[in-house]
Amino acid sequence: MDFILSRRAALGSLAGCAGWHLAGLSCARAASSLLQHQPGIATPQEPFLYFLTFDLTAEKRQDVIDLMRRWTRAADALMAGKVLPGLIDPEDAEGLSAKGLTLTFGFGPGLFIRDGKDRYNLAALRPAPLADLPRFNGDQLVAAHTGGDLCVQSCAGDPQTAFHAVRILASLAYGAATPRWAQTGFMPDFGKRKTPRNLMGFKDGTINPDISNPKIADRVLWAAPGDLPWMQGGTYLVARIIRMALEHWDRMKVAFQEETMGRQKQSGAPIGGHGEFEPLTLKQTDRDGNPITAQGAHARLAAPEENDGAQILRRAYAYDNGLSYVAERWPPWRQGNEFDAGLMFLAYQQDPRTGFTKIFERMSKFDMMNQFTTHVGGGLFACPGRLTGGYVGQTLLEV
Ligand code: HEM
Repeated sequence: MDFILSRRAALGSLAGCAGWHLAGLSCARAASSLLQHQPGIATPQEPFLYFLTFDLTAEKRQDVIDLMRRWTRAADALMAGKVLPGLIDPEDAEGLSAKGLTLTFGFGPGLFIRDGKDRYNLAALRPAPLADLPRFNGDQLVAAHTGGDLCVQSCAGDPQTAFHAVRILASLAYGAATPRWAQTGFMPDFGKRKTPRNLMGFKDGTINPDISNPKIADRVLWAAPGDLPWMQGGTYLVARIIRMALEHWDRMKVAFQEETMGRQKQSGAPIGGHGEFEPLTLKQTDRDGNPITAQGAHARLAAPEENDGAQILRRAYAYDNGLSYVAERWPPWRQGNEFDAGLMFLAYQQDPRTGFTKIFERMSKFDMMNQFTTHVGGGLFACPGRLTGGYVGQTLLEV
């Protein structure tokens, strides 16, 4: 069915969507036929990341609208490798091609309500899946690296391209939003057909939902038809900065590392299996009746079979912030300079309550990997779909 609506009419229809039908289409279907997914979610993962969050300082909703307009125009130009007079300086970008750049925007809970204040009269439009995450066992989230009213995920084939884009966006935010925290990341190149290894030396990314199948993507990734109209075509992002105690990990025997991860280090195959993509050995036991994949193995605790089918789309990067001095840690042999490195975990999903939280609740208590990892920051963001020809967030901000 050909379906062409002016932007004004589309916005109007989304605004008044509660339970009615538009030219015979259900509200959610009408909305999703007008909304497109943001890049950087279902598109191939580029090797370099610059993730930047902002606190909104704007006092009026109109200032947020203006910001999202400026950001969308600049993002479109940057992704197309163009300069935009007044927005992107030709000298700055000279010789710096788009290099696969994707820019993805998200809204944190603080856009809807902060310190008990409904600053932009948007509290009623906060979607239920954007409920604050619970405090998980072992969380050591540092306020300076946590939260954010807005986020930008910039991914590119070149680290300077990714950084250049967020610098431009930060300069365009002046007076409306101020940077809060940032984390860069990288993904090793093991050739196109191979799964990259994380800093613990294991293949990471073997299993991810097959989102090329629209049925799976609609169930796992994209906002549910019953979600708010402005979220149609969108998804939710859970970001976690997970520091690894690499010095500690590196002292472990490979057999223990494999038991911890629930996979073989070299091949990525399940414990007792042969090929990387064979199913996990969750039910098999040894001669004494013990499970061959440990009860506390990371792969077991993460698997949908152990989590009532819960799935998320992982799009993580390794990170390295150099060394940091740890003075307080016990025992004394663990004090001194240590690598501040780990995993910038980014996971997209239909609903964090039934995605990340469902999986991580148990994982945070029982995963053997927790001896080596600490969640030190992160955030939760709603990444809406975008109205064709409109700016990101228009269907939320103009209703
Ligand atoms: C530093 C932290 C982490 C490391 C090093 C890590 C590493 C791995 C590795 C090596 C695998 C097996 C290979 C694969 O299927 O890709 C895996 C699988 C997985 N991990 Fe993690 N992971 C980390 C944190 C997390 C967190 C916080 C979650 C949150 C829920 C998570 C969810 C998953 C899921 C869903 C799978 C796929 C399981 C399956 O479907 O079989 N991981 N991870």
